[in-house]
Amino acid sequence: MDEQCGGKLGVKHGQCGACAGVYRRCGRQAGPAEGEVTPLARHLQAKIRTVGPITVAEYMKEVLTSPASGYYMHGDMIGERGDFVTSPELSQMFGEMVGVWLYSEWQKVGAPRPMQLVELGPGRGSLAHDILRVFARLGAGGEGGRGERPALHLVEVSPRLSDLQAELLCPGDSRAAPGEAPHYREGTAPDGTPVRWHRALRDVPRRFSCVVAHEFFDALPAHKLQKTDEGWREVLVDVDPGGAPGRFRFVLSRSETPACKLFIKPGERRAHLEVSPESCVLVQHLAQRLRRDGGLALVVDYGHDGTKTDTFRAFRRHRQCDPLVAPGTADLTVDVDFSYLRGCAGDSLMLGPVSQASFLERMGIHTRLQVLLGSCRPEQREGLLAGYRMMVDPDQMGECFRVMAVFPSVLRDHLARFPVAGFPPPPRAAAA
Ligand SMILES: C[S@@+](CC[C@H](N)C(=O)[O-])C[C@H]1O[C@@H](n2cnc3c(N)ncnc32)[C@H](O)[C@@H]1O
Repeated sequence: MDEQCGGKLGVKHGQCGACAGVYRRCGRQAGPAEGEVTPLARHLQAKIRTVGPITVAEYMKEVLTSPASGYYMHGDMIGERGDFVTSPELSQMFGEMVGVWLYSEWQKVGAPRPMQLVELGPGRGSLAHDILRVFARLGAGGEGGRGERPALHLVEVSPRLSDLQAELLCPGDSRAAPGEAPHYREGTAPDGTPVRWHRALRDVPRRFSCVVAHEFFDALPAHKLQKTDEGWREVLVDVDPGGAPGRFRFVLSRSETPACKLFIKPGERRAHLEVSPESCVLVQHLAQRLRRDGGLALVVDYGHDGTKTDTFRAFRRHRQCDPLVAPGTADLTVDVDFSYLRGCAGDSLMLGPVSQASFLERMGIHTRLQVLLGSCRPEQREGLLAGYRMMVDPDQMGECFRVMAVFPSVLRDHLARFPVAGFPPPPRAAAA
Protein backbone atom coordinates (compact mmCIF):
# COMPACT_ATOMS: atom_id res chain seq x y z
CA MET A 1 0.00 0.00 0.00
CA ASP A 2 1.11 3.59 -0.63
CA GLU A 3 2.81 5.66 2.00
CA GLN A 4 -0.21 7.23 3.74
CA CYS A 5 -0.64 10.54 5.36
CA GLY A 6 -2.38 10.10 8.69
CA GLY A 7 -5.85 10.65 7.30
CA LYS A 8 -7.72 9.29 10.22
CA LEU A 9 -6.01 10.82 13.19
CA GLY A 10 -3.80 8.86 15.50
CA VAL A 11 -2.21 6.67 12.86
CA LYS A 12 0.96 8.66 12.47
CA HIS A 13 1.49 8.46 16.19
CA GLY A 14 0.65 4.79 16.38
CA GLN A 15 -1.71 5.50 19.23
CA CYS A 16 -4.14 8.20 20.13
CA GLY A 17 -2.60 8.65 23.58
CA ALA A 18 -0.52 11.36 21.92
CA CYS A 19 -3.70 13.41 21.62
CA ALA A 20 -5.10 12.84 25.10
CA GLY A 21 -7.14 15.64 26.54
CA VAL A 22 -8.04 17.19 23.19
CA TYR A 23 -11.19 15.38 22.17
CA ARG A 24 -14.46 17.14 22.79
CA ARG A 25 -16.64 14.07 23.05
CA CYS A 26 -15.77 10.42 23.35
CA GLY A 27 -17.32 7.27 21.93
CA ARG A 28 -16.80 3.76 23.23
CA GLN A 29 -16.43 0.77 20.97
CA ALA A 30 -15.63 -2.84 21.77
CA GLY A 31 -12.92 -4.41 19.57
CA PRO A 32 -13.23 -7.95 18.14
CA ALA A 33 -12.11 -10.89 20.24
CA GLU A 34 -9.12 -12.87 18.92
CA GLY A 35 -10.29 -15.16 16.11
CA GLU A 36 -13.86 -13.81 16.30
CA VAL A 37 -16.02 -14.50 13.24
CA THR A 38 -18.30 -11.48 13.04
CA PRO A 39 -21.92 -11.80 11.84
CA LEU A 40 -20.92 -9.76 8.80
CA ALA A 41 -18.05 -12.16 8.02
CA ARG A 42 -20.51 -15.07 8.14
CA HIS A 43 -22.94 -13.22 5.86
CA LEU A 44 -20.21 -12.23 3.38
CA GLN A 45 -18.74 -15.73 3.27
CA ALA A 46 -22.17 -17.21 2.53
CA LYS A 47 -22.66 -14.63 -0.21
CA ILE A 48 -19.24 -15.22 -1.79
CA ARG A 49 -19.77 -18.99 -1.71
CA THR A 50 -23.01 -18.45 -3.62
CA VAL A 51 -22.11 -15.74 -6.15
CA GLY A 52 -18.30 -15.84 -6.23
CA PRO A 53 -15.76 -13.18 -5.19
CA ILE A 54 -17.20 -9.68 -4.74
CA THR A 55 -15.75 -6.29 -5.68
CA VAL A 56 -14.01 -4.18 -3.04
CA ALA A 57 -16.78 -1.60 -3.57
CA GLU A 58 -19.41 -4.18 -2.66
CA TYR A 59 -17.35 -5.35 0.31
CA MET A 60 -17.00 -1.74 1.56
CA LYS A 61 -20.69 -1.05 1.16
CA GLU A 62 -21.72 -4.18 3.05
CA VAL A 63 -19.15 -3.73 5.79
CA LEU A 64 -19.88 -0.05 6.41
CA THR A 65 -23.61 0.32 5.90
CA SER A 66 -25.36 -3.05 5.74
CA PRO A 67 -28.50 -2.48 7.85
CA ALA A 68 -28.05 -5.49 10.18
CA SER A 69 -24.42 -5.18 11.24
CA GLY A 70 -22.65 -2.51 9.16
CA TYR A 71 -19.85 -0.67 10.93
CA TYR A 72 -21.54 2.73 10.89
CA MET A 73 -25.04 1.48 11.69
CA HIS A 74 -24.94 0.64 15.37
CA GLY A 75 -21.73 1.97 16.92
CA ASP A 76 -20.23 5.20 18.17
CA MET A 77 -16.83 5.07 16.55
CA ILE A 78 -15.67 8.69 16.58
CA GLY A 79 -13.54 10.00 19.44
CA GLU A 80 -10.73 9.03 21.73
CA ARG A 81 -12.32 5.76 22.79
CA GLY A 82 -13.62 4.97 19.30
CA ASP A 83 -11.61 4.17 16.19
CA PHE A 84 -10.71 7.59 14.81
CA VAL A 85 -11.12 11.25 15.56
CA THR A 86 -12.15 14.03 13.19
CA SER A 87 -11.50 17.78 13.15
CA PRO A 88 -15.03 18.78 14.27
CA GLU A 89 -14.52 16.53 17.32
CA LEU A 90 -11.10 17.97 18.05
CA SER A 91 -12.08 21.59 18.27
CA GLN A 92 -15.05 23.93 17.94
CA MET A 93 -12.78 26.14 15.82
CA PHE A 94 -13.10 23.81 12.83
CA GLY A 95 -16.90 24.10 12.66
CA GLU A 96 -16.70 27.82 13.32
CA MET A 97 -14.41 28.37 10.32
CA VAL A 98 -16.66 26.23 8.11
CA GLY A 99 -19.74 28.05 9.45
CA VAL A 100 -18.21 31.46 8.74
CA TRP A 101 -17.30 30.29 5.22
CA LEU A 102 -20.84 29.06 4.47
CA TYR A 103 -22.40 32.18 5.94
CA SER A 104 -20.14 34.62 4.12
CA GLU A 105 -20.46 32.90 0.72
CA TRP A 106 -24.24 32.81 1.17
CA GLN A 107 -24.24 36.52 2.00
CA LYS A 108 -22.04 37.30 -1.00
CA VAL A 109 -24.58 35.79 -3.39
CA GLY A 110 -27.31 37.96 -1.84
CA ALA A 111 -28.43 35.69 1.02
CA PRO A 112 -31.30 34.12 -0.96
CA ARG A 113 -34.14 32.73 1.17
CA PRO A 114 -35.44 30.23 1.78
CA MET A 115 -32.03 28.70 2.36
CA GLN A 116 -31.18 25.36 3.94
CA LEU A 117 -28.02 23.94 5.44
CA VAL A 118 -27.23 20.38 4.35
CA GLU A 119 -24.59 18.11 5.86
CA LEU A 120 -23.60 14.78 4.30
CA GLY A 121 -22.46 12.18 6.86
CA PRO A 122 -22.67 14.27 10.06
CA GLY A 123 -21.03 11.76 12.45
CA ARG A 124 -21.78 12.85 16.02
CA GLY A 125 -23.33 16.14 14.87
CA SER A 126 -20.56 18.39 16.19
CA LEU A 127 -19.86 20.17 12.90
CA ALA A 128 -23.56 20.98 12.36
CA HIS A 129 -23.82 22.11 15.98
CA ASP A 130 -20.94 24.58 15.56
CA ILE A 131 -22.27 25.80 12.21
CA LEU A 132 -25.71 26.48 13.71
CA ARG A 133 -24.08 28.47 16.52
CA VAL A 134 -22.19 30.60 13.98
CA PHE A 135 -25.34 31.20 11.92
CA ALA A 136 -27.28 32.19 15.05
CA ARG A 137 -24.50 34.58 16.16
CA LEU A 138 -24.31 36.17 12.75
CA GLY A 139 -28.07 36.69 12.72
CA ALA A 140 -29.16 34.20 10.06
CA GLY A 141 -32.14 33.14 12.14
CA GLY A 142 -34.78 34.94 10.14
CA GLU A 143 -35.97 36.90 13.14
CA GLY A 144 -37.40 40.39 12.74
CA GLY A 145 -39.20 39.69 9.48
CA ARG A 146 -36.00 38.93 7.58
CA GLY A 147 -37.34 35.78 6.04
CA GLU A 148 -37.61 32.12 6.88
CA ARG A 149 -35.15 30.57 9.34
CA PRO A 150 -32.74 28.22 7.51
CA ALA A 151 -33.48 24.56 8.21
CA LEU A 152 -30.79 21.92 8.76
CA HIS A 153 -30.95 18.74 6.67
CA LEU A 154 -28.71 15.84 7.64
CA VAL A 155 -27.98 12.99 5.23
CA GLU A 156 -27.22 10.04 7.48
CA VAL A 157 -27.67 6.29 7.04
CA SER A 158 -26.78 5.29 10.59
CA PRO A 159 -29.65 4.96 13.10
CA ARG A 160 -27.15 5.03 15.99
CA LEU A 161 -25.34 8.16 14.80
CA SER A 162 -28.66 9.87 14.05
CA ASP A 163 -29.56 9.26 17.73
CA LEU A 164 -26.33 10.95 18.82
CA GLN A 165 -26.90 13.82 16.39
CA ALA A 166 -30.43 14.30 17.72
CA GLU A 167 -29.22 14.30 21.36
CA LEU A 168 -26.73 17.04 20.55
CA LEU A 169 -28.73 19.12 18.10
CA CYS A 170 -32.30 18.76 19.34
CA PRO A 171 -32.06 17.66 22.99
CA GLY A 172 -35.42 16.23 24.01
CA ASP A 173 -37.09 17.43 20.83
CA SER A 174 -36.78 14.88 18.04
CA ARG A 175 -39.02 12.08 16.84
CA ALA A 176 -39.60 9.64 13.95
CA ALA A 177 -41.06 11.43 10.94
CA PRO A 178 -44.59 10.60 9.72
CA GLY A 179 -44.54 7.66 7.30
CA GLU A 180 -45.26 9.69 4.17
CA ALA A 181 -42.46 12.22 4.79
CA PRO A 182 -39.29 12.23 2.63
CA HIS A 183 -37.21 12.30 5.84
CA TYR A 184 -37.09 9.62 8.55
CA ARG A 185 -36.57 11.79 11.61
CA GLU A 186 -37.33 15.36 12.58
CA GLY A 187 -36.65 17.72 15.44
CA THR A 188 -36.11 21.31 16.48
CA ALA A 189 -32.86 22.79 17.78
CA PRO A 190 -33.08 24.97 20.92
CA ASP A 191 -32.72 28.11 18.75
CA GLY A 192 -35.78 27.04 16.71
CA THR A 193 -33.93 25.62 13.69
CA PRO A 194 -35.95 22.78 12.14
CA VAL A 195 -33.75 19.68 11.71
CA ARG A 196 -34.57 16.82 9.31
CA TRP A 197 -32.76 13.50 8.75
CA HIS A 198 -32.62 11.86 5.30
CA ARG A 199 -31.12 8.65 4.00
CA ALA A 200 -29.97 10.19 0.72
CA LEU A 201 -29.33 13.63 -0.77
CA ARG A 202 -32.06 13.07 -3.37
CA ASP A 203 -34.64 13.14 -0.52
CA VAL A 204 -33.57 16.62 0.67
CA PRO A 205 -36.03 19.34 -0.47
CA ARG A 206 -35.06 21.31 -3.56
CA ARG A 207 -34.11 24.84 -2.64
CA PHE A 208 -31.01 27.04 -2.27
CA SER A 209 -28.58 24.95 -0.20
CA CYS A 210 -25.31 25.49 1.64
CA VAL A 211 -23.85 21.98 1.68
CA VAL A 212 -20.95 20.58 3.67
CA ALA A 213 -19.35 17.12 3.54
CA HIS A 214 -16.56 16.41 6.00
CA GLU A 215 -14.91 12.97 5.89
CA PHE A 216 -17.89 11.69 3.94
CA PHE A 217 -16.59 10.80 0.48
CA ASP A 218 -13.74 8.68 1.90
CA ALA A 219 -16.38 6.34 3.33
CA LEU A 220 -18.10 5.70 -0.01
CA PRO A 221 -17.41 2.38 -1.77
CA ALA A 222 -14.57 2.23 -4.29
CA HIS A 223 -13.45 -0.32 -6.87
CA LYS A 224 -9.79 -1.35 -6.94
CA LEU A 225 -8.28 -1.95 -10.37
CA GLN A 226 -4.87 -3.35 -11.21
CA LYS A 227 -2.82 -3.48 -14.41
CA THR A 228 -1.40 -6.91 -15.23
CA ASP A 229 0.50 -8.38 -18.20
CA GLU A 230 -2.88 -9.55 -19.51
CA GLY A 231 -4.52 -6.13 -19.19
CA TRP A 232 -6.60 -4.46 -16.48
CA ARG A 233 -8.14 -6.64 -13.82
CA GLU A 234 -10.31 -5.90 -10.80
CA VAL A 235 -9.24 -6.71 -7.24
CA LEU A 236 -11.94 -8.85 -5.63
CA VAL A 237 -12.59 -10.18 -2.15
CA ASP A 238 -12.80 -13.96 -1.81
CA VAL A 239 -13.07 -16.43 1.05
CA ASP A 240 -9.56 -17.51 2.13
CA PRO A 241 -9.74 -21.30 1.63
CA GLY A 242 -6.60 -21.99 3.66
CA GLY A 243 -7.21 -19.37 6.34
CA ALA A 244 -8.85 -19.48 9.73
CA PRO A 245 -12.69 -19.44 9.81
CA GLY A 246 -14.06 -16.09 8.72
CA ARG A 247 -10.88 -15.05 6.85
CA PHE A 248 -10.88 -13.36 3.44
CA ARG A 249 -8.24 -12.72 0.80
CA PHE A 250 -7.81 -10.49 -2.24
CA VAL A 251 -7.86 -12.12 -5.67
CA LEU A 252 -7.75 -10.72 -9.20
CA SER A 253 -10.64 -11.12 -11.62
CA ARG A 254 -9.92 -13.62 -14.43
CA SER A 255 -10.88 -11.11 -17.11
CA GLU A 256 -11.80 -7.44 -17.45
CA THR A 257 -14.80 -6.55 -15.31
CA PRO A 258 -17.32 -3.78 -16.19
CA ALA A 259 -15.39 -1.47 -13.82
CA CYS A 260 -12.14 -2.04 -15.79
CA LYS A 261 -13.95 -1.24 -19.03
CA LEU A 262 -15.74 1.83 -17.71
CA PHE A 263 -13.21 3.54 -15.45
CA ILE A 264 -9.75 3.19 -17.00
CA LYS A 265 -8.99 6.32 -18.99
CA PRO A 266 -6.77 6.16 -22.06
CA GLY A 267 -3.20 7.03 -21.08
CA GLU A 268 -3.65 5.99 -17.42
CA ARG A 269 -0.12 5.66 -16.05
CA ARG A 270 -0.82 4.14 -12.68
CA ALA A 271 -0.71 0.38 -12.36
CA HIS A 272 -3.22 0.37 -9.54
CA LEU A 273 -6.12 2.70 -8.93
CA GLU A 274 -9.31 3.18 -6.97
CA VAL A 275 -12.54 4.53 -8.40
CA SER A 276 -15.72 5.39 -6.50
CA PRO A 277 -18.66 5.61 -8.94
CA GLU A 278 -21.00 6.20 -6.00
CA SER A 279 -19.04 9.39 -5.21
CA CYS A 280 -19.28 10.41 -8.86
CA VAL A 281 -23.06 9.95 -8.97
CA LEU A 282 -23.41 11.95 -5.76
CA VAL A 283 -21.27 14.81 -7.07
CA GLN A 284 -23.25 14.82 -10.32
CA HIS A 285 -26.45 15.07 -8.33
CA LEU A 286 -25.02 17.79 -6.08
CA ALA A 287 -23.81 19.81 -9.07
CA GLN A 288 -27.19 19.49 -10.79
CA ARG A 289 -28.95 20.63 -7.61
CA LEU A 290 -26.72 23.69 -7.24
CA ARG A 291 -27.32 24.52 -10.90
CA ARG A 292 -31.12 24.10 -10.72
CA ASP A 293 -31.95 25.39 -7.24
CA GLY A 294 -28.90 27.49 -6.36
CA GLY A 295 -26.36 26.90 -3.65
CA LEU A 296 -22.75 26.20 -2.83
CA ALA A 297 -20.81 23.35 -1.25
CA LEU A 298 -17.66 22.67 0.72
CA VAL A 299 -16.01 19.25 0.68
CA VAL A 300 -13.26 18.46 3.20
CA ASP A 301 -11.47 15.12 3.16
CA TYR A 302 -8.11 13.44 2.83
CA GLY A 303 -7.22 12.75 -0.74
CA HIS A 304 -5.18 13.41 -3.85
CA ASP A 305 -5.43 14.69 -7.38
CA GLY A 306 -5.45 11.44 -9.35
CA THR A 307 -1.94 10.46 -8.29
CA LYS A 308 -2.32 7.86 -5.55
CA THR A 309 -2.74 4.17 -6.15
CA ASP A 310 -3.43 1.82 -3.26
CA THR A 311 -5.07 3.59 -0.31
CA PHE A 312 -7.81 1.18 0.80
CA ARG A 313 -7.32 0.65 4.52
CA ALA A 314 -9.02 0.05 7.85
CA PHE A 315 -8.84 1.72 11.27
CA ARG A 316 -9.60 0.23 14.62
CA ARG A 317 -8.83 2.04 17.86
CA HIS A 318 -6.73 4.67 16.05
CA ARG A 319 -4.49 2.10 14.45
CA GLN A 320 -4.37 0.96 10.87
CA CYS A 321 -5.44 -2.69 10.61
CA ASP A 322 -6.22 -5.38 8.04
CA PRO A 323 -9.45 -4.43 6.19
CA LEU A 324 -10.31 -8.09 5.65
CA VAL A 325 -10.21 -9.12 9.32
CA ALA A 326 -13.37 -9.05 11.47
CA PRO A 327 -15.45 -6.99 8.99
CA GLY A 328 -17.88 -4.62 10.70
CA THR A 329 -15.54 -3.89 13.61
CA ALA A 330 -13.24 -1.39 11.87
CA ASP A 331 -13.69 1.63 9.64
CA LEU A 332 -12.87 1.16 5.95
CA THR A 333 -11.70 4.09 3.90
CA VAL A 334 -10.17 5.14 0.59
CA ASP A 335 -8.45 8.46 -0.14
CA VAL A 336 -10.69 10.78 -2.14
CA ASP A 337 -9.62 11.38 -5.75
CA PHE A 338 -10.50 15.08 -6.09
CA SER A 339 -9.61 15.19 -9.79
CA TYR A 340 -12.12 12.40 -10.44
CA LEU A 341 -14.81 14.28 -8.49
CA ARG A 342 -14.05 17.41 -10.52
CA GLY A 343 -14.61 15.42 -13.70
CA CYS A 344 -18.03 14.32 -12.38
CA ALA A 345 -19.27 17.85 -11.68
CA GLY A 346 -19.86 18.92 -15.28
CA ASP A 347 -19.56 22.67 -15.79
CA SER A 348 -19.69 23.48 -12.03
CA LEU A 349 -16.95 25.72 -10.70
CA MET A 350 -14.61 23.77 -8.45
CA LEU A 351 -12.09 25.64 -6.31
CA GLY A 352 -9.15 23.82 -4.80
CA PRO A 353 -8.52 21.44 -3.33
CA VAL A 354 -6.33 23.50 -1.02
CA SER A 355 -4.74 22.16 2.14
CA GLN A 356 -6.82 22.27 5.31
CA ALA A 357 -4.05 24.31 6.95
CA SER A 358 -4.18 27.02 4.29
CA PHE A 359 -8.00 27.09 4.29
CA LEU A 360 -8.24 27.41 8.07
CA GLU A 361 -5.50 30.03 8.25
CA ARG A 362 -7.14 32.09 5.49
CA MET A 363 -10.43 31.84 7.36
CA GLY A 364 -8.77 33.32 10.46
CA ILE A 365 -8.38 30.32 12.75
CA HIS A 366 -5.26 31.81 14.31
CA THR A 367 -7.14 34.94 15.38
CA ARG A 368 -9.99 32.80 16.70
CA LEU A 369 -7.49 30.74 18.69
CA GLN A 370 -6.09 33.87 20.31
CA VAL A 371 -9.61 35.02 21.28
CA LEU A 372 -10.43 31.64 22.81
CA LEU A 373 -7.08 31.48 24.63
CA GLY A 374 -7.81 34.91 26.06
CA SER A 375 -11.10 33.79 27.59
CA CYS A 376 -10.63 30.08 28.39
CA ARG A 377 -10.05 28.49 31.77
CA PRO A 378 -6.40 27.59 32.44
CA GLU A 379 -7.15 23.84 32.19
CA GLN A 380 -8.63 24.33 28.67
CA ARG A 381 -5.55 26.02 27.25
CA GLU A 382 -3.54 22.90 26.36
CA GLY A 383 -6.52 21.25 24.69
CA LEU A 384 -7.21 24.32 22.56
CA LEU A 385 -3.59 24.57 21.45
CA ALA A 386 -3.28 20.83 20.76
CA GLY A 387 -6.50 20.80 18.71
CA TYR A 388 -5.31 23.79 16.68
CA ARG A 389 -1.91 22.18 16.03
CA MET A 390 -3.45 18.89 14.95
CA MET A 391 -5.71 20.59 12.44
CA VAL A 392 -3.05 22.80 10.84
CA ASP A 393 0.26 21.01 11.42
CA PRO A 394 1.53 19.77 8.02
CA ASP A 395 2.62 16.49 9.63
CA GLN A 396 -0.82 15.86 11.09
CA MET A 397 -4.05 16.96 9.39
CA GLY A 398 -2.88 20.24 7.90
CA GLU A 399 -1.58 18.99 4.54
CA CYS A 400 -3.23 15.64 3.86
CA PHE A 401 -6.74 16.98 4.43
CA ARG A 402 -7.95 19.03 1.46
CA VAL A 403 -10.75 21.49 1.00
CA MET A 404 -12.71 21.93 -2.22
CA ALA A 405 -15.55 24.37 -2.94
CA VAL A 406 -18.30 23.87 -5.53
CA PHE A 407 -20.41 26.62 -7.11
CA PRO A 408 -22.78 26.58 -10.09
CA SER A 409 -21.23 27.95 -13.29
CA VAL A 410 -23.74 30.82 -13.39
CA LEU A 411 -21.67 32.41 -10.61
CA ARG A 412 -18.47 32.59 -12.70
CA ASP A 413 -18.45 36.40 -13.06
CA HIS A 414 -19.61 36.89 -9.49
CA LEU A 415 -16.74 34.79 -8.14
CA ALA A 416 -14.25 36.71 -10.27
CA ARG A 417 -15.45 39.96 -8.70
CA PHE A 418 -15.84 38.62 -5.16
CA PRO A 419 -13.12 36.00 -4.57
CA VAL A 420 -14.10 33.04 -2.47
CA ALA A 421 -12.95 33.17 1.17
CA GLY A 422 -10.41 30.55 2.23
CA PHE A 423 -9.06 29.98 -1.30
CA PRO A 424 -6.32 31.78 -3.23
CA PRO A 425 -7.72 34.45 -5.56
CA PRO A 426 -7.95 33.32 -9.22
CA PRO A 427 -4.88 34.27 -11.29
CA ARG A 428 -5.31 37.65 -13.01
CA ALA A 429 -5.70 37.50 -16.77
CA ALA A 430 -2.49 38.58 -18.53
CA ALA A 431 -2.65 42.06 -20.09
CA ALA A 432 -3.05 42.00 -23.89
C1 LIG B 1 -16.07 9.15 8.79
S1 LIG B 1 -17.66 9.57 9.42
C2 LIG B 1 -17.49 11.34 9.41
C3 LIG B 1 -18.38 12.00 10.41
C4 LIG B 1 -18.33 13.51 10.52
N1 LIG B 1 -18.54 14.17 9.24
C5 LIG B 1 -17.07 13.98 11.18
O1 LIG B 1 -16.21 14.50 10.46
O2 LIG B 1 -16.93 13.83 12.39
C6 LIG B 1 -18.73 9.23 8.03
C7 LIG B 1 -20.17 9.64 8.22
O3 LIG B 1 -20.89 9.39 7.02
C8 LIG B 1 -22.01 8.53 7.29
N2 LIG B 1 -22.19 7.71 6.09
C9 LIG B 1 -21.35 6.79 5.61
N3 LIG B 1 -21.82 6.30 4.44
C10 LIG B 1 -22.96 6.95 4.18
C11 LIG B 1 -23.90 6.91 3.11
N4 LIG B 1 -23.75 6.10 2.09
N5 LIG B 1 -24.96 7.77 3.16
C12 LIG B 1 -25.12 8.63 4.20
N6 LIG B 1 -24.25 8.69 5.25
C13 LIG B 1 -23.19 7.87 5.23
C14 LIG B 1 -21.60 7.77 8.53
O4 LIG B 1 -22.69 7.19 9.20
C15 LIG B 1 -20.92 8.89 9.32
O5 LIG B 1 -21.85 9.77 9.89
